[in-house]
Amino acid sequence: MSGSVVTIASLKGGSGKTTLATCLAVHWQLKGLTPLLVDADPQRSVMRLAERELALGGVDLLEQSDKSVWTAIKQHGPRHGVTIVDTPGFDSDITVAALAVADLVLIPVKASPLDVDRMMDTVKTLMSGVKGWAPTFRCVLTQTIRGSVISRHIRTELEESGFPLLVNDMPNRVAYAEAGLYGGTPSLIAPDGAAASDIIEIANEAEALLATKKALSA
Ligand SMILES: Nc1ncnc2c1ncn2[C@@H]1O[C@H](COP(=O)(O)OP(=O)(O)OP(=O)(O)O)[C@@H](O)[C@H]1O
Ligand SMILES: [Mg+2]
Repeated sequence: MSGSVVTIASLKGGSGKTTLATCLAVHWQLKGLTPLLVDADPQRSVMRLAERELALGGVDLLEQSDKSVWTAIKQHGPRHGVTIVDTPGFDSDITVAALAVADLVLIPVKASPLDVDRMMDTVKTLMSGVKGWAPTFRCVLTQTIRGSVISRHIRTELEESGFPLLVNDMPNRVAYAEAGLYGGTPSLIAPDGAAASDIIEIANEAEALLATKKALSA
């Protein structure tokens, strides 16, 4: 896992990129992995959250919202246990550069047909813009309502179309926005709560994928 880069990307705005990126970074910080959280979005959502009282648990931050994000991560990433990159919700050189440096790409997607279509565009960018480099990628269903027909339907549709998905999704919970009010994530505010356990499951899946990738390239 050490030195690995996890990029969170989706060309769909509001799909949950920043939420997932900050939650993973804080979780790994609390686990003692000294992560680096990179804000590659000109909207500066991560940097703005970090200005609030809990400062995302003191996680190390790097703001680089241009295509030199590739070089910046190559330079700073190796000093951290893991680097997490939050990207803009639009097609740009920044997103391509952040995909090109990734070992694992997580694509948050809301369980709705409109969001799934845009997710497919993200995967196309992933495949066509990043020449000669094939990062492992997984879609992550976000803002799902547990047990809802639409969540189950979209999961099945994606699986049948050959899109790999994390087993665990990120259910719709108010805890994310509430934690954000204080510049925190559920892992900091309510570590025993349901949202914090969702993040543990997602992080464990990401860690297993990175470990497999490392073992294969060793
Ligand atoms: N699992 C969730 N449950 C409830 N609300 C969520 C969840 N994930 C994200 N949200 C909320 O959805 C909104 C959009 O999330 P977020 O800012 O993380 O998306 P984004 O993909 O980073 O957006 P952008 O493309 O603008 O950068 C926020 O208000 C956030 O609090
Ligand atoms: Mg964002």
